Amino acid sequence: MHRLQYLVWFAVVFFGLAGGGTFAEHAAADGFYRVVDGKADARTYNGYRRYNAGCNHCHGPDGIGSSFASSLVDRPLGIEEFRRVVRNGRSSGGASVMKGFGDDPNFAPYIDDIYAYLQARAEGALGRGRPQRLEP
Ligand code: HEC
Repeated sequence: MHRLQYLVWFAVVFFGLAGGGTFAEHAAADGFYRVVDGKADARTYNGYRRYNAGCNHCHGPDGIGSSFASSLVDRPLGIEEFRRVVRNGRSSGGASVMKGFGDDPNFAPYIDDIYAYLQARAEGALGRGRPQRLEP
């Protein structure tokens, strides 16, 4: 190939893939999630499953919120505050109460996984619905 052809080919492949979103890789600065080509790593995928087992009926599908509890993707908490609220629960004094999950074996070990999923949603690395899974 001529050098120019090669450059054009390279530009098309490289920018085509990057610009089209395929093979784009997202990673949280603090390392909670990794999403490659729209596929979630094991932790983030597990977070999605846990979220849907215990949080979605109050916080809405995919973290978007409901009339009962706020969105968890619009203004995400920092990890320390998130862990505290999910372990201990929270009530600001109104009628709506969130119980703590600190003693629940289905959730307590996976709080960081749920955080990873919500962080990936908040930062736009994952869209709505069930994510695909990265091969291990
Ligand atoms: C029974 C309904 C219910 C369930 C189930 C529930 N929550 Fe909540 N959650 C709430 C309510 C209501 C609040 C607001 C409490 C308040 O501040 O008065 C809240 C608050 C929160 C907050 C703080 C939000 C903020 O911006 O300050 C986080 C984080 C949170 N929930 C995460 C979770 C996670 C993760 C799960 C699943 C493991 C979960 N919640 C399950 C009702 C629920």
